[in-house]
Amino acid sequence: MTYRRKDAYYRRARAAGYRARSAYKLSQLDSRFRLLRRGDLVVDLGAWPGGWLQVALEAVGPHGRVVGVDLVAIDPLPSPNLRLVGGDVRDTSTWRAVLEHLGRPADVVLSDLAPKLSGIRETDEARSSELVTAVLEMLPTVLRVGRAAPPLRGVPNHATRGHPEGIGRGVWGRTRLPRSPRVVKGVR
Ligand SMILES: C[S@@+](CC[C@H](N)C(=O)[O-])C[C@H]1O[C@@H](n2cnc3c(N)ncnc32)[C@H](O)[C@@H]1O
Repeated sequence: MTYRRKDAYYRRARAAGYRARSAYKLSQLDSRFRLLRRGDLVVDLGAWPGGWLQVALEAVGPHGRVVGVDLVAIDPLPSPNLRLVGGDVRDTSTWRAVLEHLGRPADVVLSDLAPKLSGIRETDEARSSELVTAVLEMLPTVLRVGRAAPPLRGVPNHATRGHPEGIGRGVWGRTRLPRSPRVVKGVR
């Protein structure tokens, strides 16, 4: 049994019926920063096996919708408000499918994308960076535009720093949990 399987978040997730311990990363982010609201339209990138999808669906409620995207096929969850897209975020066809499901720009874009690790630091950083770039390029198209979003206190705003035009209206956050999820929040 691996360390991950034994840890407290893993056991809590199993007991609560979450598909992944990472569900608690998003729950904690949401409690702290109020990212998700009832009725929101949310995109979840790198969504397999579905821990974040479960938390997002609970948060948006019956009038919201969540679109999950991953290279790996995700077992459907029993929610009429979930749409799943199988595909690579580096492919435009994936984004076309996301946009079709959205119908309008999303209120929140979540990303927990993680590349397959090679163990070679430069290679892994390049792969991560390729995913981040692919997402940032699409954000102006998929994320709702509105009033300036308040910065997340204590959270580096990489989006604003790297992409002053358009993307600066979102927020790119990190948590202190074991791995670092990426969250971009639409503006309200
Ligand atoms: C850490 S897992 C996500 C866990 C998920 N947030 C949850 O709570 O269940 C990272 C996911 O990113 C996906 N991924 C990696 N590269 C991708 C790509 N280019 N396009 C789409 N998904 C990708 C992987 O298949 C993997 O399922």
